[in-house]
Amino acid sequence: MSFNLYDIPKINLCLLPTPIVALNRLSDYLEGPQIYMKRDDLTGVAFGGNKNRKLEYLLADALQKNADTVITEGAIYSNHCLQTAACTSKLGINCELVLSGIEPSEITGNFLLFKILEIPLYIVNNSSDRKNYMREREKKLILKGKKPYIIPTGGSNALGALGYINCILEIKNQIKQSNIEFNYFVHAAGSSGTQAGLLIGKKLFYPEINIISISAGIDASYLETETVRIVKEFQSKFNVNQDLSRIPTKIVTGYEGPGYGLPSKEMVETVKLVAQLEGVFLDPVYNGKAMVGIIDMIKSGNFSENEKILFLHSGGGPSIFNYNQAFCKQIP
Ligand SMILES: Cc1ncc(COP(=O)(O)O)c(C=O)c1O
Repeated sequence: MSFNLYDIPKINLCLLPTPIVALNRLSDYLEGPQIYMKRDDLTGVAFGGNKNRKLEYLLADALQKNADTVITEGAIYSNHCLQTAACTSKLGINCELVLSGIEPSEITGNFLLFKILEIPLYIVNNSSDRKNYMREREKKLILKGKKPYIIPTGGSNALGALGYINCILEIKNQIKQSNIEFNYFVHAAGSSGTQAGLLIGKKLFYPEINIISISAGIDASYLETETVRIVKEFQSKFNVNQDLSRIPTKIVTGYEGPGYGLPSKEMVETVKLVAQLEGVFLDPVYNGKAMVGIIDMIKSGNFSENEKILFLHSGGGPSIFNYNQAFCKQIP
């Protein structure tokens, strides 16, 4: 039997389908192609976001393996960690987070939400220390008779990628109902799971759509290598007839400003523009920067007026509150 998405165990955690909305005022302002937004900031658990889709498959696997404690990792304000903590809370499974960075002196954003959920936090200095620490926690939990389940950073593996294959099928269904065909689907890239899922989904179900993946400031060659790794893992884990080995994995860079997580003048202006024209808040780390990218590409004449661009709003809302300085004062 060949690959059938609907045969793979999944738990319903998200409010799906997420809406697709036309950004008419932004499109008019830019005098370019029509821009639409896929509202994955409205996936439902916690403050929404793309990780909830991945977790529908990852946590189904954890439950199938009778896991009682999920361990995952991320940066100190990680969106993935928040969504994992909230989804495991909803399912009544324990969760532990291994976070890298410095414990914030002012508790805000996702860090505040971890505290509200009362999730055990283990803070290490560097992101490179997280994996070993997760293994140590795994060993300790096993010694205590627990059944831990490790989810990698960003939920980015073959199982997590299923979430965005499902999203591609969801968009195809929405197109059938609305009769709007999209030429491009734009998203922010951080740990490659979303890109891998979208590219596999395109190859298997929606070849006409062009995927534009914009780095949030992570090295493009690292992201491309990660996407290739996830796609390979996917090919060997699931019985896919098509050869996925030649899927092109281009990452667009140049819109990250001073670096990952660091505010830029362009990001601040863009987040304000979209909020003021559309009433939608983009996060400063991922979607704000991806929107800087797509607006620059539109202004550079890369698209014609009759083309349609679908922009993925992948969540991350609470992180806006970590950037009050950037939004309230002028960045040089
Ligand atoms: C809000 C948000 N958008 C986009 C991404 C990128 O997704 P991925 O890690 O699957 O590349 C992340 C996480 O990295 C995120 O938290």
